[in-house]
Amino acid sequence: MSIYAKKAFFSGSYVKQAIVFSNALFGLRNSSVALKHTIGSRSISELSGAKVETPEVKAVVYGKYGQPKEVLRALKYRLPPLTPTSIHLHFLAIPINPSDINQIEGVYPLRPPFTREEFGTDDAVAVAGNEGVAEVIGVGDQVKGFNVGDWAVMANAGFGTWRTHAVARPDQIVRIEPGSIDLASAATLTVNNATAYRMLKDYVKLQKGDYVIQNGGNSGVSQAVIQIAKAWGINTINTIRKRPDFEQIKSRLQSLGVGESGATTIVVSDEDLENKYRSKSQFLEFIGDEKANIPLGFNCVSGDSAIMIAKHLSRSGYLVTYGAMSRKPMRIPASMLIFDNLHFVGYWMANWKETHSIEEYREMLDDIIALIQTKKLGSFVYEENKWGEETDEKELLAKFYEIFDKAYPDSHGVKQILRIH
Ligand SMILES: NC(=O)c1ccc[n+]([C@@H]2O[C@H](COP(=O)([O-])OP(=O)(O)OC[C@H]3O[C@@H](n4cnc5c(N)ncnc54)[C@H](OP(=O)(O)O)[C@@H]3O)[C@@H](O)[C@H]2O)c1
Repeated sequence: MSIYAKKAFFSGSYVKQAIVFSNALFGLRNSSVALKHTIGSRSISELSGAKVETPEVKAVVYGKYGQPKEVLRALKYRLPPLTPTSIHLHFLAIPINPSDINQIEGVYPLRPPFTREEFGTDDAVAVAGNEGVAEVIGVGDQVKGFNVGDWAVMANAGFGTWRTHAVARPDQIVRIEPGSIDLASAATLTVNNATAYRMLKDYVKLQKGDYVIQNGGNSGVSQAVIQIAKAWGINTINTIRKRPDFEQIKSRLQSLGVGESGATTIVVSDEDLENKYRSKSQFLEFIGDEKANIPLGFNCVSGDSAIMIAKHLSRSGYLVTYGAMSRKPMRIPASMLIFDNLHFVGYWMANWKETHSIEEYREMLDDIIALIQTKKLGSFVYEENKWGEETDEKELLAKFYEIFDKAYPDSHGVKQILRIH
């Protein structure tokens, strides 16, 4: 009989089943079994002498860098047994972010090491994916602060989230109250929402009524910026590429967030920004506020688009670059530095985490969760793709490729989220 009875994985209650079974075992050989557990709080800790069959993990892995469809493959392996200091996770929802793809291509600075150890493969591999929300399904005896049934998000990038289950150290994850927010929001808490939050907070002390200008206005990060800014009374000016459904996207972006602060969301095409509103006065007339203070800009596109938005920043303003979706370099005119005294800086979430404490990270996540709970943040467009645990791993890979085609090279502002059932 298996302690990790399959059905029970779905509810995260395998521990309860394990306990039922273990107690039976205990009755048979009570002197040889050391079992420490409490239903609903702590989990199985030790079960000496009993064979514990852990869940079968299905994962998407790569052993060399390259185009995702060329290097990714599906893998099936047993989850390593629980130790006194480890935690077992069952992933619930995982997003596909541009940085996941860059990492597989080998062009992202943070790359998880390839290893054989955990996977039992002939070649060394790493599990793809950096973000996601998981349910805690097993907690080692010496672990503090986590209980079975908790939700957890990743403390850092590089964990390898595109898998059904994982074993984690407590310092690799952060606890989230289960069910406190919806799964899609929980799955995307630590990258896009956190990036938007930090960029709005860390560069300029924004005042109510100020403006923030950003390109890639329909990206996941930008949608979070629009909502958090609105909650804090900050207006946003969002540039997006010209497209047939421009008006639809414009009204969707304008409907994001809670309007009680009176802040506005302005949407303009890159093309119009370049041709119709080129000069500062034309631009201020377009936004309808000739005294607009625009001290902060966010750039996820780079190339000419970055300079186009920088042009409209107020004197001594900041342009924060956090992405380069166009894969083009930025050519900054000297006048922007000399006469406008603009500051060009970069933001990277991984760097922020490295230089801040887990308590500061926790505080930010709590703030973001509160914004989601009060419905000020959380509305973003996503497509949920179901990933059944029962599905054969080859089928999973095929399914994954399907999702990939929708997310890469361009998501069109619709985040692809993998829901593991
Ligand atoms: N530095 C950090 O810590 C950090 C954190 C999070 C994200 N990021 C980066 O931020 C960027 C956006 O991430 P996301 O998850 O928000 O992405 P996303 O939701 O997939 O959105 C991508 C955005 O980029 C635009 N885009 C794609 N290709 C483009 C091109 N060739 N020229 C101009 N625009 C283009 C898309 O516009 P269309 O709809 O017109 O295609 C869309 O607005 C990525 O580069 C990501 O790596 C950085």
